[in-house]
Amino acid sequence: MFTLLTFTYPHESAIVIGLLEGRGIKTFMKDEHTVQMQPFYSNAIGGVKLQVSADDFTEAAEILLEAGYIPEGGAQQPGFFEKLEALTAGVPLLNRISPEARMLVIAAAIIIFIMLFIGIAELQRSKAALVLSLPIIFNFVYLVSSFPQHILTSTFNMEYFHGYSEREFQRLIDQAIFLAPQVYPQLHLPESGDLLEIGCGVGAQTRILAEKYPELNITGVDVSAKEIESANSWLDEREDLKERIEFIASDFLEFESHKSFDAAFICWMLEHVPDPQSILDKSIGLLKPGGSIHITEVQNNTLYLFPKNTSFEKYWRAYCRHQQEVNGNPFIGAHLRKWLSDAGFSSVTIKPHHELFDQTDSGKLNEITNYWWDLLDSVGDVLQEKGYISADERKEVKDYLPVLSSQENALFFYAFIQAEGRK
Ligand SMILES: C[S@@+](CC[C@H](N)C(=O)[O-])C[C@H]1O[C@@H](n2cnc3c(N)ncnc32)[C@H](O)[C@@H]1O
Repeated sequence: MFTLLTFTYPHESAIVIGLLEGRGIKTFMKDEHTVQMQPFYSNAIGGVKLQVSADDFTEAAEILLEAGYIPEGGAQQPGFFEKLEALTAGVPLLNRISPEARMLVIAAAIIIFIMLFIGIAELQRSKAALVLSLPIIFNFVYLVSSFPQHILTSTFNMEYFHGYSEREFQRLIDQAIFLAPQVYPQLHLPESGDLLEIGCGVGAQTRILAEKYPELNITGVDVSAKEIESANSWLDEREDLKERIEFIASDFLEFESHKSFDAAFICWMLEHVPDPQSILDKSIGLLKPGGSIHITEVQNNTLYLFPKNTSFEKYWRAYCRHQQEVNGNPFIGAHLRKWLSDAGFSSVTIKPHHELFDQTDSGKLNEITNYWWDLLDSVGDVLQEKGYISADERKEVKDYLPVLSSQENALFFYAFIQAEGRK
């Protein structure tokens, strides 16, 4: 999708969207959720972006030019990486990595192709060229296979369920803000001291933690160097928080610290790791005696929407199945008491918390169904590639969720688990 116009607030885009959609052009509002939840963030994130597909960009720009919404030559032209992203959106595997990594893969493919071409030509001249090239091929295979797996993972996103695209970074920020009223009131974090955030991603929870607990120092660790880079870029602009926050790119299992922590915080992370027990075992070793751990995790079998929709249920099953296939656990919450105890934590508590939205507040119901669509859509391409859902089913779910709140007796229910323990 390409950005055509930006607005400070979502409501300012209503007329423009009407103009475009009335002419059959599909639009998408990037960052709409964030600004709706936190209007003051608008300037910091560059406003709400009105986007259209590559195919519609020129026509949409002409319509808005005609209507006087953009000056002559004033449409923000898509940049190189946006164009590359749109061009390769339909290429399996390639469309799961960031535009920068796509460029590297394409460049590598071109170089290999040229080398092969030259190699074949050489081979016709002398068999010796083939013999000479064998060690190079063996070395290349050895290098790739011995490269640290977590670096490959974070760079090429072959494993992490939601991937490491810019869109996912934005989704994490929207998600943290949107779910904060559910997540934070029930946690018992210390008011001051050193907090270790494991799997901090782009620092979406870190920012909320730092604002809610002004006397906590926070160390955020994440395996994705790209996410840490993104976290540092917003931190650079927050002089007020810089002193108290440090982000470190490292696989948590390899993370080394010269200090011990008063508490550890984990949110929506253990569901993505192949061996959560090893993360808990390592966490306890990094805590001071008496230090605490605070975990928020999924329990995906608790989801219940009414009225029911068969395609939605199929999509949700496919989502959970795919997560298990990439070594995650969508039902991890209920396991945490045993695993925390096995790691050596005492006073372990497990509390399910539910979100129930119904027509007593259809605005909230609408917000959660829109949020849930973002979550489902973040893996939509992969589920389609795997053949778990069809394009029609995906479209049906996309249409079903936004109108759910207007259906008779509509409701959304989901329970997540919060686990705490002490060293
Ligand atoms: C769903 S994201 C959640 C991020 C953040 N906690 C939040 O709520 O916004 C899960 C994060 O766990 C990170 N992660 C997965 N395995 C990890 C590991 N072994 N060490 C450190 N981070 C890891 C991923 O890179 C990803 O950023």
